[in-house]
Amino acid sequence: MTGHDTPLFLDGSAASHDALRAAVADVLDVLAGTDDRPPFPALDPAGLRTAAAAVEPLPDDAEPLRDVLADVGRQVLANGARVTDPWCAAHLHPPTLLTAAATELAIAVTNQSMDSFDQAPAATYVEDRLVSRLGTLAGLPAAASGVLTAGGTASNLLGLLLARDHAAGGANVNGLPPVAARWRILASSAAHVSVRQAAAVLGLGRDAVVAVATDDAGRMDVPALDRCLDGLRQTGAVPIAVVGTAGTTDTGGIDPLDALADRAADAGAWFHVDAAVGSALLLSDRLRPLLTGLERADSITADLHKLWWQPIGASVLLVRDAALLGSVREPADYLNRTDDADVLNLVDRSLDTSRRFDALKILVSLRATGRRRLAAMVEHLVDLAASAGDAVTDRPELELLAPPQTVMVLFRCRAAGLGEARLDELNVAVQRRLLASGRAVVGRTRHRGRVALKLTLTNPLTTAGDIAALLDTVVTTAKEAA
Ligand SMILES: Cc1ncc(COP(=O)(O)O)c(C=O)c1O
Repeated sequence: MTGHDTPLFLDGSAASHDALRAAVADVLDVLAGTDDRPPFPALDPAGLRTAAAAVEPLPDDAEPLRDVLADVGRQVLANGARVTDPWCAAHLHPPTLLTAAATELAIAVTNQSMDSFDQAPAATYVEDRLVSRLGTLAGLPAAASGVLTAGGTASNLLGLLLARDHAAGGANVNGLPPVAARWRILASSAAHVSVRQAAAVLGLGRDAVVAVATDDAGRMDVPALDRCLDGLRQTGAVPIAVVGTAGTTDTGGIDPLDALADRAADAGAWFHVDAAVGSALLLSDRLRPLLTGLERADSITADLHKLWWQPIGASVLLVRDAALLGSVREPADYLNRTDDADVLNLVDRSLDTSRRFDALKILVSLRATGRRRLAAMVEHLVDLAASAGDAVTDRPELELLAPPQTVMVLFRCRAAGLGEARLDELNVAVQRRLLASGRAVVGRTRHRGRVALKLTLTNPLTTAGDIAALLDTVVTTAKEAA
């Protein structure tokens, strides 16, 4: 067919299996060859652009896979962020369970597409089963449902779309009613930026999101929420959704979900919880109580590509009442036909059409690891963040900016005699120097208007010793930068 001998597809023949096995061995060899490197490349952006320019994506004729992979290994993989390095600690960007990574291969070669039953017969029901199980874990009723998405941003969008359609049945068909100009979504000022993005996409405008003040730990302040709700009532605005965050991006704070659920119920508003980060606490008997109130949510975002160690993308949007997902359904004659009422077509729950069978890697790796071990890893990271907070406090050159609550440690360098603006510059310089040298990937954000450094601990292999050494390096770098 192709005029070449090497099989291109896994077609069931022995030759195709051999070819895949050999290709996988080549990939593994390349990975092994790039193991020994710092968490970040010491190349500057221009150097990385040059390295990328040396990679030809579409030659006229085939090149041997080994050669291609060797080239890609040198120019690309060797210059990546190394998520397994304990000093790669800026983002919610974890090492991945190797059982999930290996299962990615099965997802790729079998290529089920989750939009319709006739493209994913068993996969459809397996994703449905996985989502139900996650719903039960979150404490939702048995009738809860959900769907996998590419990430927390997509899950938050879908959750808030359901909130919008709940506020005005028919908005999904007829567009926004005039009252929508007065609709508001209440989320804390520490909520993820995707909440504002979702409001923009949904036609409400970013400023329909009212930022509610937080306490010092970055959790929504309930009296402030009450004041916001009163203020909205007085101006005739309509709160259509309250968004709680279970694990904020910068402080890891968990909003008082029970109180938020009460306020949402009183206001007749949808209660969405962004548990992109905090959903992993559900795994642990010890930590689960921190999420009390989550079970009252109308919709929940849970990112499994964060503290559940799945390769990107693996997020889920859980919905308390499966029927409400119906507002997403748009039948098409070729796909989710109205006369095929007896089959499940997951496109009916999703904003995507073609979609990967990510449920498989999740299911395989969760089973192969077991809840108890996953829980132990989450607990280790939460404990590590607490001890890292102490380690920051123990160093006079550093200042802890918020008490660690889940896996984030927010701090900054300080230096005697420097005003706030110079301190900001110093902290920017520290983060940039560490990144440019490739030695450490430390987060940089702002807290209460000032530049802050951040460790996000997602690597269960990281020890207190790794953190102590990293903090010492931060201190030394600050001295150099000052
Ligand atoms: C609290 C929270 N929600 C949502 C997101 C967005 O998730 P994703 O990057 O998977 O789209 C993030 C990302 O860090 C987050 O921290």
